[in-house]
Amino acid sequence: MPSQRKALAVVLAAGEGTRMKSDRPKVLHQVAGRSMLAHVLAAVAVAGVESVAVVVGPGRNDVRDEALRLAPHARVFVQAERLGTAHAVLAAREAIADGCDDLLVLFADTPLVTGATILALRAALAEGAGVAALGFAAADPFGYGRLLQDDSGRLLAIREEKDASDAERAVRLCNAGLMAIDGGSALDWLGRIGAANAKGEFYLTDVIEIARDAGRTAQVVRAEETEVLGVNDRIQLAQAEAVAQNRLRRAAMAAGVTMVAPETVFLCADTAFGRDVLIEPHVVIGPGVSIADGAVIHAFSHLEGASVGAGATIGPYARLRPGARLAEKAKVGNFVEIKNANVATGAKVNHLTYIGDADIGANANIGAGTITCNYDGFFKYRTEIGENAFIGSNSALVAPVKIGAGAYVGSGSVVTKNVAADALVVARGRQMEKAGWAASFRAAQAAKKAAK
Ligand code: UD1
Ligand code: CA
Repeated sequence: MPSQRKALAVVLAAGEGTRMKSDRPKVLHQVAGRSMLAHVLAAVAVAGVESVAVVVGPGRNDVRDEALRLAPHARVFVQAERLGTAHAVLAAREAIADGCDDLLVLFADTPLVTGATILALRAALAEGAGVAALGFAAADPFGYGRLLQDDSGRLLAIREEKDASDAERAVRLCNAGLMAIDGGSALDWLGRIGAANAKGEFYLTDVIEIARDAGRTAQVVRAEETEVLGVNDRIQLAQAEAVAQNRLRRAAMAAGVTMVAPETVFLCADTAFGRDVLIEPHVVIGPGVSIADGAVIHAFSHLEGASVGAGATIGPYARLRPGARLAEKAKVGNFVEIKNANVATGAKVNHLTYIGDADIGANANIGAGTITCNYDGFFKYRTEIGENAFIGSNSALVAPVKIGAGAYVGSGSVVTKNVAADALVVARGRQMEKAGWAASFRAAQAAKKAAK
């Protein structure tokens, strides 16, 4: 169905978001590691919508840039004045005039709507409806438009809270705000909407009665309240986050990831998992992480911008920062931080270590407390450690520096020069011992004290 029908999505992102109390525009606040706008654009893509228009507020180049980053072919329109949802849709008049079968209206502050729901709205148009509105049974309908239906469930009108009679306010089926409108009639219908209502705004919801007056039917597509949660403040942002996290956890588990305590694991919308990954409790995964088959992430680890190879083990209490790339069967243990570094197959970095801007060869062993000194306050430098090298505990590798394959670094070394393959380097104070020194020191000091 959608493959033959041409669709245009108009995403409304011109809200001021005052209640967020933020310097950042509301729709750029993040849920599961990506902006709310990005979530909506992703759902639009899933629903096979080929044309996208984003309506932004005046001077909102940041919102425009985010839209174009995610949907380079989108057209961005500015709604100069905030005069209501229909007025906002008409800001994209030029895009609508290009013609489409399905005109979809989405709100960028309603980030959890799925591609499947957008497809259901499109299906209603394909079946002949002139308009389809997304409805939900609200736990507390206050503030929402009510969906007024006839006895056979056909949609008659949407009444805004402020314009509703007491009887209409008693209706629990509410308007989520999202709609699909017959593309061929949309400009005509939207153009007829006036602002003679309690708020003096151009209400998109008036399109229902206008379509019916034109002899077309209006249909309700239902969604769960959690899916159509609109975000107006940071409390609702956290509610949306909770819903998104639950979805991501369930999807991961359904795809073969074991989570011992899923409610304590935090994921991002782009987290990629292989099969038979095990995630222990209290793991936080930020954007840009992939974890391959059979890897184990032990408790209390934090990963961001990292890739974890098959069969690798991480943590407990490990931190993988952006650019950490671990090959198969690599091991990263407790209190280890890895940033912008490649850890090759089977290499071990097991305890209390910082590895930054480095390449660690296959099967190398990095002892406890090793630090790559990668920064001089101005620039970053790389450390290269060859395969099978052994770095003794508590060593500082002052970059730029290379440790050859198979070389040994003695514990406690501060290595400032390159080390040849298979060499031993010891770069620490030489050990000396004076027989009996401590005993004679104690005797002399005790005598001094007694004489006072
Ligand atoms: C709207 C619906 C209401 C529905 C509710 C769901 C209308 C008239 N009412 O009401 O039936 O129950 O959503 O949350 O559509 N926007 C603009 N420019 C504008 C006005 C709005 O871009 O001039 C955007 C907002 O940023 C927001 C969306 O449109 O993303 C909805 O606007 P909002 O003012 O929140 O509508 P509600 O009054 O909540
Ligand atoms: Ca709203």
